[in-house]
Amino acid sequence: MRRWLLMACGLALSCASSTSGTGSGGAPSGGPVAETELGLAKGNVTDTPEPPRVTYRTSDPGEEPSVPRPFAFAPPSIPHGLEQVTPITRTDHPCRDCHALAEQLPGDPKPLSDSHYTDYRADPPKRGTELSSARYDCLTCHIRQSDAELLVESRF
Ligand code: HEC
Ligand code: HEC
Repeated sequence: MRRWLLMACGLALSCASSTSGTGSGGAPSGGPVAETELGLAKGNVTDTPEPPRVTYRTSDPGEEPSVPRPFAFAPPSIPHGLEQVTPITRTDHPCRDCHALAEQLPGDPKPLSDSHYTDYRADPPKRGTELSSARYDCLTCHIRQSDAELLVESRF
């Protein structure tokens, strides 16, 4: 008799737990997610997407304030336009001309920090006197500003 009672209780509990966390047909609670809502580009995969146009900043260096960094040691975003200061080539490096300063006098752009002169492949890493070749292409790490909407909210 006691065995039957235990089995009945077990059955009742397992039924309760299988209905509480799932919707109909075993889908996650809240119902199934439509195919067109999956991914960052909403819509059907066969649609031709038309992303909104994005405008990049065109201000001159020094015209706009610096952009707050999202976390300590993040590469700061570039607060100025890039039209007049690119391209970076083997012989011409406008970013270096302005930012690779030994010291910052009032009104000067921010000088490159020590990490930009350090060869981290050396053991131990050494600060040299020249811009490290790993830092030559500034735009690998420093991004410019645009008016693009965030695709996913970032709380970082
Ligand atoms: C004509 C001089 C000039 C040139 C060329 C130039 N910049 Fe700047 N840059 C400035 C000034 C002025 C500021 C604003 C003051 C500051 O934060 O240094 C600035 C700000 C920055 C900052 C923000 C620094 C911070 O701590 O917020 C970054 C990053 C930067 N520039 C990267 C670049 C890159 C990459 C290039 C080349 C593609 C470049 N700059 C070319 C003058 C220049
Ligand atoms: C491999 C990634 C990387 C590259 C390439 C790079 N940077 Fe940086 N940069 C960083 C990071 C990370 C920081 C913040 C931490 C630090 O200062 O080391 C930074 C900081 C800066 C700062 C602010 C310095 C300070 O003292 O606050 C300036 C200005 C800057 N970089 C300009 C440049 C320019 C100009 C170039 C190209 C010549 C360049 N960076 C190339 C990653 C990079």
